[in-house]
Amino acid sequence: MNSFKINPKKSIQIIQTERSRSPSFKILKMSSVLEKDKQYVWHPFTQMKTAGEPLDIVKAKGSYLYDRDGKSYLDCNSSWWVNVHGHCHSHITKKIMEQIKQIDHVIFAGATHEQAVKLAERVVKLLPENFQKVFFSDNGSTAVEVALKMVFQYWHNLDQSKTKILALEGAYHGDTFGAMSVGQRGYFNKPFESFFFNVDFLEFPTPEKEKSSLKKAEELFQTGNFAAVIVEPLIQGSAGMVLYSHLWLDAFVKLAKKYNVKVIFDEVMTAWGRTGKYFAMNYCQEIPDIVCLSKGLTGGVLPLGLTVATDEIYNAFLAEDKAKALLHGHSFTGNSIACAAANASLDLFEIGYTWKRIERIGAKHLTFKNQIQEHKKIKEVRVLGTILAIEIQIGEESSYFAKIREDAYHFFLEKGMLIRPLGNIVFINPPYSIKDEELDLVYIALTEFINKIY
Ligand SMILES: Cc1ncc(COP(=O)(O)O)c(C=O)c1O
Repeated sequence: MNSFKINPKKSIQIIQTERSRSPSFKILKMSSVLEKDKQYVWHPFTQMKTAGEPLDIVKAKGSYLYDRDGKSYLDCNSSWWVNVHGHCHSHITKKIMEQIKQIDHVIFAGATHEQAVKLAERVVKLLPENFQKVFFSDNGSTAVEVALKMVFQYWHNLDQSKTKILALEGAYHGDTFGAMSVGQRGYFNKPFESFFFNVDFLEFPTPEKEKSSLKKAEELFQTGNFAAVIVEPLIQGSAGMVLYSHLWLDAFVKLAKKYNVKVIFDEVMTAWGRTGKYFAMNYCQEIPDIVCLSKGLTGGVLPLGLTVATDEIYNAFLAEDKAKALLHGHSFTGNSIACAAANASLDLFEIGYTWKRIERIGAKHLTFKNQIQEHKKIKEVRVLGTILAIEIQIGEESSYFAKIREDAYHFFLEKGMLIRPLGNIVFINPPYSIKDEELDLVYIALTEFINKIY
C-alpha cells in the first residue's frame, strides 16, 4: 500500500484553529444536561440500558460540532446524513429568521403560501420533465409512506387490484409501518413483522446477479399483482453504502414499465449532491413515476419530506368523488419555515461553489480509495460522489452489530471525528463545507484505524 502523502502537523493545526474559534463554554454549567437527559430522554436506535453518555453538543458551526468541554468533532456523517452546506450556514439561518417573522406555520389544506409554492416549482424544475406535482410531509419515512399510499390508491382509483410491492434485498426506507414493510426484514423490525404488508424482495443486483435478478423480476411482474417497485437508486445506504449499476437500474425500470408496474425512487439519502449530481436518477436514462426527498432538502436544518409524482399518477386522483382524493396529511405539512430553509439551500446549490466542493470531495475520495483499497484488512472500498465507505474484513459476514463498530466509533471520537459506522463498514459522507486538510486528517485516521486492526 502506498503511504498517504499529507502533512499531519499542518492538518492538526487546522483542527486546533477551529477549536480556538469555538464558542465560550462557560454559559451553562456542565452536567445538568446529561443528568436530565439520563432521567428524561429516550434516544433513537439506542439500547438505553447499556449506552454510554451521549455527546453534550452546545454548538454546531460549519463542518464541526462542539461539546460542552470545548472539544470539537468533525461531523463526518453530516448528522445522520442530512447536513449538506455545513451547520448554521448564514444564508439558511437568515432566510429562516426572515420567514419566522412572516409566517410560522399554517394549515396546508385549503391554504397555501409562497415558500411552499416556490419550493415545489423549483423542485419540479430540477427533476426530469415528467414530474409535475409535489406532496409535502415531514421526513424521509413519511415521504416513502406517502409514495406507497399514492401507488396503492392509484390502482384502487383505477379499479384494479394490485396489492404487492417489489423491493430490493437489503433495502431501508424508514421506520414507519409502510416504510418498514418495504425494508429488509431483520433485527430492526422483527417485533413488527406480522403487521407488514405483502412485499417480495429481489436479490440485490451484484454484477453476478444482474441477469438472474432481472429474470426473476420479469417472472414476478408477469403475475400482474405488482402495484409498484421501490428502490434506493444506485446505492443502498443503511445496508452499508452498497453500490449497484445504473445500467441495471435502467433495465429494471424499463422492465417495470413494460408490465405497467409503477416505479418509486427513494432519494431520501441520495439527493442534493450526495452522489455527485442533484439526484441519483440523473445517472439514469429511465425515469421513475414517484420520487421521495428529505434529509438534505432543507440543507439538513429542518425536517421536511417531499413526494413528487408525475401527472399520470396525479390525474388518477382527480374525480368528482371526494374519496378518490389522497386523504392523507400531517399537521406540519408544508411548514413555511422548513420550506424557507429548503429554498435557501437551493440558492446555495445555484451559486455554483457547492458543486465545486462536491466535485472536490468526490475526487479526493477516489484518490484515497486508490491508495488504500489493496490493504489486506479491507474487503472493499466504495465511492459514489461525496460518499466513501470502507468495508473492513472481520472474518465473518458483515453485520451491523459487528464489535468493530463500537471500537471504530470511539477511536474516531478520540480523534475529534464523529463517525457512526454501519457495523464493519466505516463510511464518511461529510458536509460539503469540509476542507481538503480536514478530509486528509480523516483519511489519516481511517488508515490508522485499519492498520490497528488485530
Ligand atoms: C433511503 C432512505 N429512505 C428513508 C429514510 C428515512 O428517513 P427519515 O429518517 O427522515 O425518516 C432514510 C433514512 O436514513 C433513508 O436512508
